[in-house]
Amino acid sequence: MSSWEAPPTAAGADKPALYRSLATSYAGLIAGERDFIANAANLAALVYASLPDLNWAGCYLLRGGELVLGPFQGKPACVRIALGRGVCGSAAQRRTALIVPDVEEFPGHIACDAASRSELVVPLVTPGGGLLGVFDLDSPLPGRFDAADRDGIESLAGLWIRGSDIPAGL
Ligand code: SME
Repeated sequence: MSSWEAPPTAAGADKPALYRSLATSYAGLIAGERDFIANAANLAALVYASLPDLNWAGCYLLRGGELVLGPFQGKPACVRIALGRGVCGSAAQRRTALIVPDVEEFPGHIACDAASRSELVVPLVTPGGGLLGVFDLDSPLPGRFDAADRDGIESLAGLWIRGSDIPAGL
């Protein structure tokens, strides 16, 4: 694998262009590699290193009926989240992406890092409809995430899931 470089569009470009660039980078990173956890780790690293104003990026994976911390970048985080709890548990239970402009306004928000002000959580679903977990982004800025971020992260998560072998037990 060649060494990774930050996309040239990282600063100031429009978000769809940035996410297209990230998708190209990520497809290169995981080409020829189908390990689900390795590809999750590189997705978290790529997103965290490339998107501005994040303080956490990574996944929670569904294990034994609850969300368990998976590969991520940022400060240590809470390990287990019940379905329906917090932003992550709510997005997983509803199987819909949640954009939370102000986490203090979200009932039951789980404050892993007091610096977090806004959050985007995208559910991870197999092509067959199975729930695998969620991909979570936190920002210290209020209102950091919009529909373009949601669409971009959903696309990246799709590349990860389709490009990896799903481990037994997920
Ligand atoms: N804030 C999340 C918990 C996970 S951390 O942000 C990494 C939530 O309410 O589900």
